[in-house]
Amino acid sequence: MAPRPLNVGLVGGGKGAFIVQPHQKAIHFDGTRRVTAGALFPDPKVALEEAANWPFPITGYGSYDDMIAAQKTLTEDQRLDYILIVTPNFVHFDPAMKALKAGIPVFCEKPLCLNLTEAKELVKAVRKYNIPFGVAHTYLGHWTSRLSRYIVQAGLLGDVRWVDSYYIQGWLATKLEATGQQQATWRVDPKRAGGSGCGGDIGTHALMQLRYVTGLDVTQVSAQLETFVLGRALDDHFTIYCQLSNGGKALVRASQICIGHKNDLGIVIAGTKGTLRWRQEEPESLIICLPGKPDMVYSRGAVSPGDGFLPKDMPADLMAEPTIPAGHGEAFHDAFARLHRCFEADVRKWKAGEKFTCDGAKYANIEDGWMGIAFIESCVKSGQKKGAWTAMPKKI
Ligand SMILES: NC(=O)c1ccc[n+]([C@@H]2O[C@H](COP(=O)([O-])OP(=O)(O)OC[C@H]3O[C@@H](n4cnc5c(N)ncnc54)[C@H](O)[C@@H]3O)[C@@H](O)[C@H]2O)c1
Repeated sequence: MAPRPLNVGLVGGGKGAFIVQPHQKAIHFDGTRRVTAGALFPDPKVALEEAANWPFPITGYGSYDDMIAAQKTLTEDQRLDYILIVTPNFVHFDPAMKALKAGIPVFCEKPLCLNLTEAKELVKAVRKYNIPFGVAHTYLGHWTSRLSRYIVQAGLLGDVRWVDSYYIQGWLATKLEATGQQQATWRVDPKRAGGSGCGGDIGTHALMQLRYVTGLDVTQVSAQLETFVLGRALDDHFTIYCQLSNGGKALVRASQICIGHKNDLGIVIAGTKGTLRWRQEEPESLIICLPGKPDMVYSRGAVSPGDGFLPKDMPADLMAEPTIPAGHGEAFHDAFARLHRCFEADVRKWKAGEKFTCDGAKYANIEDGWMGIAFIESCVKSGQKKGAWTAMPKKI
């Protein structure tokens, strides 16, 4: 008989919360994972009410402390196999640390936490307890991100000279937070969002896309953190010129004030032999440009190894990852599901006492989370010095 589905506990998600919903769909995608519990709101009474009114039965807890403490009293089949943290950034560190100490794997929203001190503590704890930890950088879960990573890291574009990795939005072009809009309110508050607004919120996605696809790190930054909407304490426009670990250069940029741009995340990678272009708003294909040839469009599920550009021996796990035939569109939820599916595989290995990888090849890991925070802190420092070149901290 198939093993029971993994039990997932939510931290956050009540009262009109946003990202819990895509996650929840993605958790239930394969039938091998399910949400069974939640500490959904800071106020214990509301948290329990929200759980009681959840669209399907879950065990409600007044707080994540209660949810974590209760695990000791449960049988194996009732116990949580991992927790999913979908709270604002300032409520990432505490539940993550408590879960790790209680021996529960964690899938945490980005950015990992508020600052580098917290990030270091989390890295130490994950290494000490040797527990699966994932960070929800959604866009790595697109099959075309996997293919991009393969193309670039197999050297098919030659050496990477230049990368433009961007995430451009327009939803904070006006002072939306003044209306009390839930998602805007905490994102513009340094105490709840961290040292950078736009950079922490979506610049970290652009950085992660660059690092995941190219395998390169940013070693130095020259940063401009700008605030266009008057009265905001944090940046709403974030432009970072970067030195890459291979000697190449990159722009990591994000904006929330570009009216008309929705979730315009994309990447352009220019190598010595060719260029790759990809956009998450059209996530089913990527474009390869080679000198003197017509541009080539590669679609998920419709690539032919050995076509003259892609080699014959494409990795089997990459070729096996699409879930439905090409032309039946995959998108945001499928990307999230692919991350949860790969995290589930590591959690199952860990539960069985087997070696698990958690190496960043299938979803962002704790070191990637740390890198996001290190990047933000370096950019804030550089921004305060009018864009002076600032070294990233040594890799942890
Ligand atoms: N991966 C992505 O693509 C993506 C997209 C959006 C948001 N995010 C991240 O997800 C997180 C949540 O963002 P959101 O837009 O869903 O925020 P949100 O404000 O919509 O939801 C946050 C939820 O956390 C709850 N909460 C706050 N403090 C809590 C506590 N102490 N205990 C229990 N619940 C608590 C709130 O009540 C709410 O239910 C953020 O870190 C954000 O950066 C990631």
